[in-house]
Amino acid sequence: MACRICSGRLHPFADFGRQPLSDAFVIPGDPGEEFFFHLAVGLCVACSTVQLLEEVPRERMFHEGYPYLSSGSSVMREHFQSLAKRLLTTELTGPDPFVVELGCNDGTMLSVVADAGVRHLGVEPSGGVADVAAAKGVRVRKDFFEAGTAAGILAADGPADVVYAANTLCHIPYLDSIMEGVDTLLRPGGVFVFEDPYLGDIVERASFDQIYDEHFYFFSATSVSGLARRHGFELVDVERLPVHGGEVRYTLARRGARTPAPAVAELLAAEEAAALAEPATLHRFAARVADTRERLVTLLTGLREQGARVYGYGATAKSATVLNYCGIGPELVSFVCDTTPAKQGRLTPGSHIPVRDPEAFADPYPDYALLLAWNHAEEIMAKETEFARAGGTWIRYVPEVHLVRA
Ligand code: SAH
Ligand code: TYD
Ligand code: ZN
Repeated sequence: MACRICSGRLHPFADFGRQPLSDAFVIPGDPGEEFFFHLAVGLCVACSTVQLLEEVPRERMFHEGYPYLSSGSSVMREHFQSLAKRLLTTELTGPDPFVVELGCNDGTMLSVVADAGVRHLGVEPSGGVADVAAAKGVRVRKDFFEAGTAAGILAADGPADVVYAANTLCHIPYLDSIMEGVDTLLRPGGVFVFEDPYLGDIVERASFDQIYDEHFYFFSATSVSGLARRHGFELVDVERLPVHGGEVRYTLARRGARTPAPAVAELLAAEEAAALAEPATLHRFAARVADTRERLVTLLTGLREQGARVYGYGATAKSATVLNYCGIGPELVSFVCDTTPAKQGRLTPGSHIPVRDPEAFADPYPDYALLLAWNHAEEIMAKETEFARAGGTWIRYVPEVHLVRA
């Protein structure tokens, strides 16, 4: 098997078997066949990039009905608002600045830029969420970003001061085309800023549910600095972020244009010391994942035998991997509650657990709640204090299976 970036040899280290598309929520009674693929991950021994072994065609995942909304978490809304404000006061200060966001989704970040009256463009292939952004006053182009798109934007709008992407670059197998596009679009002194789940956090927390169809790459400072170098860029800053279970925000500039911050060398050294891109480390991760599966299935099966009522909380894309890898269906988890309108009334992909409005969570409260949106734990536990008061127990499985009682 060859690396999607450099054609180097891929060393497979974890296999989750046959998996559905993580955001393809099923209409009950729909006779249409679900799409399945083989979910497995490998490490490129040449460029150190961890990646999926099988690529799902992008149109199957990102289309008119793509349900994910960035605005579904108040913590994320604040996160993007503060990032937008920071860009506005640091990078977007020249005359008539211009920022392009790849994967702007429902415009949570760009609406702040739009409100400030600053020139911007969101590039978003998923039509439904792009419409939500447009309704907020965000200028959106419904398209996949790639080299050709970038040339079109440059011709129409001129060069960008900043290209930004959150939780989007890791979704894109064709990174060469992206880097070529960014090179075309960015003005000479501009920056390419992107943030994605961090391999270091995934390995440390055994958060294997970050691995699903849409997450094709699992970046580290080591792999991103190599990617930058191969395209005439340089990794000039890294910032660890607490959101989504641990991410890194990478800043790339053209080689020699900016002095790298000390944080870059520090994170590179930490990755080296942790042997992050070593097969042995990743095999240890895989062993922990198998252990989590065994413990979670044992726990849920035991609860069913006791007659306990168990609901799921948050029909995340991540949960597709947990539920299908562990074989958890409606006999173990009666339903999953979720705030996303496009997920409610449907069934979770592959595992076919009904998704319901969060109001159902309290009507009546379950004995146990499987926290599938564990990356939003603080936010969710803060608003569900009544559940704990009613004697309810949270089930967590990251970094290992454990119960949380208030
Ligand atoms: N930035 C948002 C959304 C992340 S979800 C956030 O952090 O919350 C990933 C988004 O990337 C989806 O909305 C998807 O439609 C979009 N996407 C996928 N491929 C893309 C591409 N080639 N160019 C631009 N956006 C893309
Ligand atoms: P998220 O973990 O952000 O992403 P992914 O789908 O990529 O794994 O998804 C959070 C999901 O949880 C989303 O469907 C909205 C839902 N949610 C709730 O139902 N209630 C909440 O309080 C929060 C924060 C999220
Ligand atoms: Zn490679």
